[in-house]
Amino acid sequence: MSIIADDNDFHNTSAEKNPVTKAETIEFDKNFENCIRPKSFDTYIGQSALKEALQITIEASKKRELPLDHLLFYGPPGLGKTTLAGVIAEQMGAEIKITSAPALERPRDIIGILMSLKGGEILFIDEIHRLNKVAEEILYPAMEDFVLDMTTGKSQTVKTLRIPLPKFTLIGATTKAGALSGPLRDRFGIIHRLEFYTEDELAQVIKRTSGILNIEIDTKGAHAIARRSRGTPRIANRLVKRVSDYALVKHDGKITEDIANLALDILKIDELGLDNTDRNLLKLIIEKYNGGPVGVETIATAIGEDTRTIEDVCEPYLLQAGLLQRTPRGRKVSPSAYCHLGYKKQSNQQTLF
Ligand code: ADE
Repeated sequence: MSIIADDNDFHNTSAEKNPVTKAETIEFDKNFENCIRPKSFDTYIGQSALKEALQITIEASKKRELPLDHLLFYGPPGLGKTTLAGVIAEQMGAEIKITSAPALERPRDIIGILMSLKGGEILFIDEIHRLNKVAEEILYPAMEDFVLDMTTGKSQTVKTLRIPLPKFTLIGATTKAGALSGPLRDRFGIIHRLEFYTEDELAQVIKRTSGILNIEIDTKGAHAIARRSRGTPRIANRLVKRVSDYALVKHDGKITEDIANLALDILKIDELGLDNTDRNLLKLIIEKYNGGPVGVETIATAIGEDTRTIEDVCEPYLLQAGLLQRTPRGRKVSPSAYCHLGYKKQSNQQTLF
């Protein structure tokens, strides 16, 4: 697996404020993630319907001796889109090149990568909804006909050059399927959504990671961490490390349910996995906007987060947990958010219990 280029700017603001639960992409975490990433479908936990569909697709493409159709994965960050791409490459016996759309700013970035591909190779583009128009247009004929259409010269002397490319598979990943342009979306033969993980699945991920890192953990300890991991393996894996630090410094190193709960309380991650940013967001809507609706930009400014982090990182889980609602007029908190944060909802205002 070769990592060509990547961009680190996306979650830095939130990383400073939420060192544990937000999807910051600092180098240390990348190395950590790479070392615990499952490499095969057997070791990849969760997403069972998707795994089954992919295994059939891979088998069929091998029988036909053709590359896989282009694939698009979408869903909240941290659910394993990059990992799945790696598993697919392994299963196909193919090389994979990994990059992300913000790193493909200039035409020569995307042209360079396309021209470096070998037959059957997989190109993984993360955050593909952030590709600029020029890069997208270079990609269309490459995806459809495996050619690069290049123009040379100016005005009357302009010439189009068709350069053949080897047959490759593009795997795109996005947290925002809706932000992808129609023509780009239509060029993917296979589109799959990744779902949040169940507590049981996350407990299995935690046990597997603990095994790799030589961390002693019992089943109840794994479930205690899983419950506060927002349905997200990336978060579960980070929490295991933090809880393990606590267990090592304050106890005998073993993670039990009590140790996990104590450590997570110190980290200010509550029973639903919410951190300070999530709670501030909900409290703001309750206290300043009477429960909403309020626009996401207003929320972002008030709590000092960037809009994209709120939309891509905080909101998907708050929506899924039924704490927040999206309406045409903005975000609204749901009655369960009042309850979770200890507010009593009254007809037109709310007070703390
Ligand atoms: N680590 C991160 N995601 C994982 C998954 N789906 N299965 C196993 N380990 C993981």
